[in-house]
Amino acid sequence: MALFISFEGGEGSGKSTQAQRLVDTLDRSGVPAVLFHEPGSTNLGFHIRDLIKGRPWGRETISPTAELFLFSASRAELVAKVLAKQFQAPDLVIVADRYVDSTTAYQGYGRQVDLDLVQAVNRLATGGIMPHKTFLLDCLPVQGLNRVGSLQAGLFEGHAPRRIDDERSRRFEDEPLRFHKRVRRGYLELARAEPDRWTVINGAAPPDKVARAIWRAVQAIPEFSEIVSRRSAPPGRQVALMDSDDRLTPR
Ligand code: TYD
Repeated sequence: MALFISFEGGEGSGKSTQAQRLVDTLDRSGVPAVLFHEPGSTNLGFHIRDLIKGRPWGRETISPTAELFLFSASRAELVAKVLAKQFQAPDLVIVADRYVDSTTAYQGYGRQVDLDLVQAVNRLATGGIMPHKTFLLDCLPVQGLNRVGSLQAGLFEGHAPRRIDDERSRRFEDEPLRFHKRVRRGYLELARAEPDRWTVINGAAPPDKVARAIWRAVQAIPEFSEIVSRRSAPPGRQVALMDSDDRLTPR
């Protein structure tokens, strides 16, 4: 079975950068890895992404329940067409830049859709396929929003705000700060409820330091050690674990 690792966090938490860095480090170490980004990664997923992010019909918002179904439809397609198969592959590391916990945090806590219903939809969409390890890149919403240059960070700092329903304000980044605070609280509650699966990392730390902490944590995952030892076994298929700065890690 593959090792499945997901990255979660609020806007500007640096999770996409870190997901990519992990895949690069795995590549350099000779461990096969795949990366996907939600929503997206299938044809239907890309269309749903355009619908949610672009809203081709204009300013009108999407209702929270419809939004829950859109993200979940994208995930169900990904699981059915790609993930379920990859999950059975031996010695593969699957890295997800967002997965089902995004739906709990954003639609459940952020949009305040009933959490039991969100969990039920999540179970349906994933077919029960859950990550072995989830990294939460945690930072204060205002720090993350500042990184992505959001309207709300400007608002928070007292700069002239643009209206939330402004034509250009269609992104999650531009939801009010209290929305992002709820999302963060949701993530932290999820992490507290399942401490074995979640590793909380300070997303505001320098990216190199974050990457090193993540790589150390990955090397401590039992399923990862099993992959490495299986791949190292036959002669000529040596796996030399690199550290996240490209140096060989003494083993
Ligand atoms: P994206 O441009 O991919 O941003 P990010 O780099 O933060 O992932 O936008 C995805 C947005 O969709 C992001 O704001 C989080 C949100 N989202 C949900 O609300 N629910 C979900 O289930 C997922 C996967 C994403």
